[in-house]
Parts: sequence; C-alpha cells; structure tokens
Amino acid sequence: MTRIGILISGRGSNFEAIADNISAGTIDAEIAVVISNRGEARGLEVARGRGLRAVCIPSKGLDRQIYDRMVVEELRQCGVEVVCLAGFMRLLSAEFIREFPNRILNIHPSLLPAFPGLDAQHQALEHGVKISGCTVHFVDENLDAGPILIQATVPVLDEDTAETLSSRILKEEHRIYSEALRLVISGRYRIEGRRVIRT
Ligand code: GAR
Repeated sequence: MTRIGILISGRGSNFEAIADNISAGTIDAEIAVVISNRGEARGLEVARGRGLRAVCIPSKGLDRQIYDRMVVEELRQCGVEVVCLAGFMRLLSAEFIREFPNRILNIHPSLLPAFPGLDAQHQALEHGVKISGCTVHFVDENLDAGPILIQATVPVLDEDTAETLSSRILKEEHRIYSEALRLVISGRYRIEGRRVIRT
C-alpha cells in the first residue's frame, strides 16, 4: 500500500477528502503522516482525531533549506512515497523536490496557468473570467507550474463573491485530488514534456 504524506497550513479540507476516500477503500494508500507548518492548523486536530500521525514543524524564522530538510527527514522516517500538498502555503526548495521526483502533488484553485500564487479565486473574479476551476499538478521548482494531472471547471456567476466561487471550486478540488492520487498510485501514466498521458 502506498504511503502518503500530506502537508497542510490550515483548514485541511482537501486532506479530509483524501482521508475519507482512503477509509472508504477507494484509494489504495495509507496516510503515514500529516505535517503542518502552523501549529494552529485545524487540519492537525482533525488528523489526530482520526488517529493519524500529525506533526507540527513550525516554519517561522527558519531558512527554507533548513526547514525543508526537517520536513524531508520526517517524511523519510515515516516511509512516505508520495507527498500531497493540500493548502500548504510555502514554496518547496529544489532540494526537497529532488528527494521525491514526480512524487509531489499540489492542488491549486484555478485553471493553471491562469492565476498562480495567492488568492487565485479573487484573481479570477477580478479578471472577469466566466469559467474557473482547479488543477492538480506535479510540483516542480516553479510556482504552481509542474505537469498537470487533472483539471475541473466551474462557472463564475455574476453574483459570485470570492467566498461563493471558492466553495464551488472546493467541491471539485475534493473530487479531483483523490482522482489524481489514484492515477499516480496506479502508475498508469507517462510524462512527455509537460503532458501527463494516461497509459
Ligand atoms: C484550497 O482551496 C487549495 O486549493 C488552496 O488552499 C485551499 C486549502 O484548503 N491552495 C492554494 O491556494 C495553493 N496555492 P484546505 O486546507 O481546506 O484543503
């Protein structure tokens, strides 16, 4: 069974959706550890409540390389093979990424390459797009930029606020993150340049 590590910074609803699917037996994996860079992250409590290993490694004031080495060490100790960033609001160093080549996934609340970075839903509203969505992609050394595994679209409505749009997108996030994880665990894909092709 594939051992996954989940990195969070806050609410952790994407982590919970993955955990629910694992409990339901629809993802053949086990969560070896949930790591947060913030002690107050709600997701840590949820993880503990589920009997999972939940670790806070505070990032405040630490040099990126040093911090990333601590996280990699914890992931290695837990035998993690696949890393899921789930609302982990930090850039990973090249050293971290090299430790898990094509084994780190991220979810982003826009149709990349549109609106990378912070407040993607707000950016989409401000830009006036009529369709937005979410993206699960492999993590490379650039921000929100690696090969795309799965995307889902949602309409942007005239009456939307950042909150209503975010919650419409979030539903799709919960669905496609598990779908992408299943694909990665199955190994039934190949990467050609930027393209992830199912095999
Ligand atoms: C999600 O909407 C996720 O896509 C976003 O943070 C939220 C975390 O929610 N991530 C990013 O913006 C990364 N650039 P969650 O903690 O409830 O999963």
